[in-house]
Amino acid sequence: MNRPMAAEPLLDVRDLSVEFDTRAGRLRAVDFVSWTLHRGRTLVILGESGSGKSVSTQAITGILDSPPGHVTGGQALFDGMDLLTLTERARRGVVGSRISLVFQDALSALNPVHTVGRQIAELYRVHRGTSRSDAMKRAAEMLDRVGIPGARGRVHDYPHQFSGGMRQRVMIAMALALGPEVLIADEPTTALDVTVQAQILELLAEIQADTDMGVVLITHDLAVAAEIADDLVVMYAGRVVESGATADVLGDPQHPYTQGLLQSVPSAERRGQDLPAIPGTPPDLMRLPSGCPFRPRCPHAHDRCVTERPALQPAPGELRFGACHLLDQPLSPEGAAR
Ligand SMILES: Nc1ncnc2c1ncn2[C@@H]1O[C@H](COP(=O)(O)OP(=O)(O)O)[C@@H](O)[C@H]1O
Ligand SMILES: [Mg+2]
Repeated sequence: MNRPMAAEPLLDVRDLSVEFDTRAGRLRAVDFVSWTLHRGRTLVILGESGSGKSVSTQAITGILDSPPGHVTGGQALFDGMDLLTLTERARRGVVGSRISLVFQDALSALNPVHTVGRQIAELYRVHRGTSRSDAMKRAAEMLDRVGIPGARGRVHDYPHQFSGGMRQRVMIAMALALGPEVLIADEPTTALDVTVQAQILELLAEIQADTDMGVVLITHDLAVAAEIADDLVVMYAGRVVESGATADVLGDPQHPYTQGLLQSVPSAERRGQDLPAIPGTPPDLMRLPSGCPFRPRCPHAHDRCVTERPALQPAPGELRFGACHLLDQPLSPEGAAR
């Protein structure tokens, strides 16, 4: 954690916006989202269900359900390319090899009719032209690397023959097989029990420590975020409300939403639970309130929050950003805005 930051960003997302056409009209699920992933660091995207975490990474990796989804603006810069404007062919040369993905539901992501060994070996054969027997050998090495006991024998097993936790390890092995520079994991441990969750997170941290890989991890679990994030992006209603180094964001949250989340202190017992409840509910994206989307739930809301949408702006600290009018108007000791 908190390794020094390389100057050059690994993946730089700028003002990403995504809209969906629905029966009731168009809604904006991702609204001017910006964040930067650095080599060797773990960036966690934290937010309630429906806040745009998955859609934003789906847009970046070209797996957005489109239509009804449309990227309506922004850039996702990776090694001099904008991932949002790549041709399908160019994207296939990047996503799945240099940028790889792990999802919550390994069972549906793995092919049920092929052995796991074959699925991993196939990657080496297609992308590296490795011979069948060498590819199988490497598949076994990968399964061993992600802590699957008896890996050499287990390459011949099918996905349903693995427990949920072991299946998630298989997915991670597949994602890591080609030595990606970026790993994007969308709620990779949400479906698992608490002990297995901890093991998987530890595995990710271990593997990352051995490489220069940047990891983007999506979660709605504050304890997970606190534990493994170097950098934290807090999303609310499709927007980034706060971002920065984890120690800064959790140690001195600038946005009332983050402050609300932290009022229930993260602890080991909280792991695996949803974000702490803040009074009220997230807004309907079809009917966003004027001004700040968090306003109806915010204890500090004032007139300007009704009329003016707060932009993401630099906040105190290094590389910190927040989207709240209070950043220009510090809280009084009683907590009310002046
Ligand atoms: N296929 C879809 N059709 C219409 N709206 C969608 C679709 N997928 C996602 N959305 C909208 O995008 C919002 C963000 O979704 P998502 O990124 O999956 O949230 P999460 O933060 O839980 O990952 C949802 O609240 C929903 O309004
Ligand atoms: Mg999601």
